[in-house]
Amino acid sequence: MINYRQFLVDFPMLNKTMQNHRLVYLDNAATSFKPTIVLDAIRDYYENYCANTHRGDYDIAHFADVNYDKARQTVADFINADKSEVVFTAGTSMSINMIAYGYGMKFLKPGDEILLTEAEHASNVLPWFTVAKETGCTIRYIPLTKEGRLTPENVEKAMNEKTKIVAIAQVTNVLGYVVDIKTISKIVHKYGALIMVDGAQSVPHIKVDVKDLDCDFLSFSGHKMCGPTGIGVMYGKYELLKVMEPLMSGGGMNARFNTCGEVTLLLPPAKFEAGTQNIEGAIGLAAAIKYLDKIGMDNIEKYEKGLRDYAISKLKELDNVILYNETAESGIITFNIKDVFAQDAATYLNSRGVCVRSGQHCAKILMDFLGTVATVRASLYFYNTKEDIDVFVDACKKAGDFLDAYFN
Ligand code: ALA
Repeated sequence: MINYRQFLVDFPMLNKTMQNHRLVYLDNAATSFKPTIVLDAIRDYYENYCANTHRGDYDIAHFADVNYDKARQTVADFINADKSEVVFTAGTSMSINMIAYGYGMKFLKPGDEILLTEAEHASNVLPWFTVAKETGCTIRYIPLTKEGRLTPENVEKAMNEKTKIVAIAQVTNVLGYVVDIKTISKIVHKYGALIMVDGAQSVPHIKVDVKDLDCDFLSFSGHKMCGPTGIGVMYGKYELLKVMEPLMSGGGMNARFNTCGEVTLLLPPAKFEAGTQNIEGAIGLAAAIKYLDKIGMDNIEKYEKGLRDYAISKLKELDNVILYNETAESGIITFNIKDVFAQDAATYLNSRGVCVRSGQHCAKILMDFLGTVATVRASLYFYNTKEDIDVFVDACKKAGDFLDAYFN
């Protein structure tokens, strides 16, 4: 359940001030705050069973193994995958790179096509550029609707027998529309292609079930869902993980190798986890997932939607705000203050204790689509309140006085 009083106890950051104001954190699409239960789980690992995984024959190493393995099971249950299909990575960017290099580089050839959209984050564009450059395949962009949505109809129109991979976000990080992945997966599979879902902005906020969506790959990060930084997940259907190449080689991912360079790899997921793993990260992520599960993903989605509707209705009362994604379903609100450069508006909001992101949000090709050079983005999470929105909206109202932020 959503219980703000409890969140104040659970999240130390919610009790902070900034610029002599109560901190109003609306940059959750960049990263989220961490509850003490996550910090405690990490501390417990370092204080009570600090050992490497998959290497030691002593009790605390065994305990580290068991907890690392349990963390993988927790992630698998959360997205309804099999444990063998969950690979720990450093985050969404690393996961997508691993898929692009491990699958794209191996199987794509000249004449093949990868479909993206102009709303994708750099992490879901640049790795595919490299694949295209190295393999000779082609990148195409699925047209968005006038308001910037990706529809199954437009996916269907863009598909052909040359399409091999469709790489799209379930919720894009600037426009925040929720994409109908389930319908799109069916279309993509009808053409014999694969679908890679960037879940960085969806998995923390809505229930994501990989079996129900029937996606081939899913990438997401721990730090946007109350977990630590430096841990993320690459989900892949087991048969795909088996045939893909690992991006990294080293200890812990091979069964044997010899002086002739012959290497036998371990099976997934170990095959993709070379070197000492981010053990504290995996354990912290599992603690975060348990925390989210206790609140309930459906409750989180519903609450954020209500808060978003409240924020939009208040922002619409202001005549100095340009909204770019008024109808989005997620907690991402992208806007500008009329005649104020995005960074200046963000600086003014900072002077009022409000944290937002401004600029291009790593989605550089989207700015041409929006017809602007930069935007301000407020992004909500379940621990934000109507009071946060009131402070934010009041600050937006006065953001034309942004010079005050510099000279006061
Ligand atoms: N991908 C993160 C964002 O959109 C960092 O802010």
